Amino acid sequence: MDLKLVFPIAFLFCLSRVSSTSQFFTSMFSLGDSYIDTGNFVIMASPVVPVWNDKLPYGMTFFGHPTGRMSDGRVIIDFIAEEFGLPFLPASLANSSSVSQGVNFAVGGAPATGIEYFENNNIVPFKLLNNSLDVQLGWFEELKPSICNSTDETNGLNCFGKTLFIVGEFGVNDYNFMWMAGKPKQEVESYVPQVVKKITTAVERLITQGAAYVVVPGNPPTGCAPALLTSRMSPNKTDYDGLGCLRFINDVVERHNTMLRAALGVLRGKYPHAKIILADFYSPIIRVLQNPSHFGVAADGVLKACCGTGGAYNWNASAICAMPGVVACQDPSTAVSWDGVHYTEAINSYIAQGWLHGPYADPPILAAISH
Ligand SMILES: *[C@@H]1O[C@H](CO)[C@@H](O)[C@H](O)[C@H]1NC(C)=O
Ligand SMILES: *[C@@H]1O[C@H](CO)[C@@H](O)[C@H](O)[C@H]1NC(C)=O
Ligand SMILES: *[C@@H]1O[C@H](CO)[C@@H](O)[C@H](O)[C@H]1NC(C)=O
Ligand SMILES: *[C@@H]1O[C@H](CO)[C@@H](O)[C@H](O)[C@H]1NC(C)=O
Ligand SMILES: *[C@@H]1O[C@H](CO)[C@@H](O)[C@H](O)[C@H]1NC(C)=O
Repeated sequence: MDLKLVFPIAFLFCLSRVSSTSQFFTSMFSLGDSYIDTGNFVIMASPVVPVWNDKLPYGMTFFGHPTGRMSDGRVIIDFIAEEFGLPFLPASLANSSSVSQGVNFAVGGAPATGIEYFENNNIVPFKLLNNSLDVQLGWFEELKPSICNSTDETNGLNCFGKTLFIVGEFGVNDYNFMWMAGKPKQEVESYVPQVVKKITTAVERLITQGAAYVVVPGNPPTGCAPALLTSRMSPNKTDYDGLGCLRFINDVVERHNTMLRAALGVLRGKYPHAKIILADFYSPIIRVLQNPSHFGVAADGVLKACCGTGGAYNWNASAICAMPGVVACQDPSTAVSWDGVHYTEAINSYIAQGWLHGPYADPPILAAISH
């Protein structure tokens, strides 16, 4: 089931009126994981483990060099920043001297829940970075006094009334740690309420500190990602849907998205002054997979990673993108998946436009600021 979006048509008229308010937001702060990381993972992980996304071909399409983004170019928040005339958000751990227009706390690998659970239950065979949602909120709250000296919501609004907050996506790593550990659907699915609760608690914590505009993305269809298609490959044809994606994985994603939608509805009732925007990360990907040629996606780029090597999905855990000898496809814009997990810049742009203008957000960001 898609996240059903009921507003887009009604807002078409408003959208034409707000083009002049494109500079509406004066700053932007984001929390999240590798889908929107702009460099934190490289800073945090490179002293501890080998990292690969600090090497070409990462960055080949837009920046021309690696930036720590896990794509061939810009990530979703880069396109949103561009729309509002804001600079690309620096990674918070880079200690940028200019934070008044915002920073990005997102780190690759960040789960919604604390890392202790995964480590204590031996779900992951490696040491996790301490970068979960709560930790990122802590970083924000540490930085806050340099941007805003108010403590309560009313005064916080004076600081953040024209600030766009992005919280997520979160959840993909929580679930992926379990999928990769071979856990069955029932067990992964039982974890959804906790994950959603973590996300809504974080959104609430930001609102009580003055956040007035919060975008909360749902999860993308990870059952269509080359990495999971490879590591959870099934001999059972009924495990695959008509698009070739793994049903049991996307079922859990849809459960997450449905619960998130409901929980955000409750928050909207509690904080009617805040604009809580549910961003749909699922439907745009499905739309592209359903009609690849319309989006310039090649037959080979539908379920195969652009940058990777071998196997049915051009993905191999021991030979991932940017490792020696692992190169990108000729034209990343003809693929959906960049490296087996993350999307190409072309797809990131399509998603961002859908969140800004509709139809992939409820309400679209530009509609939320128009009244
Ligand atoms: C940022 O500042 C902290 C604290 O001063 C320091 O430990 C860290 O190494 C700095 N990070 C970078 C990337 O310069
Ligand atoms: C993670 O960081 C938080 C905040 O800095 C700290 O309270 C917590 O103990 C850390 N957890 C681990 C497992 O290191
Ligand atoms: C808030 O107060 C602290 C301590 O007095 C000061 O260093 C900081 O610059 C102030 N921040 C703002 C945004 O005014
Ligand atoms: C294939 O999966 C379906 C649905 O989960 C299940 O009912 C069926 O028993 C499975 N078949 C085999 C051969 O495992
Ligand atoms: C994955 O890559 C490793 C290292 O290059 C190689 O040894 C292995 O055979 C590959 N596996 C598959 C399934 O292609």
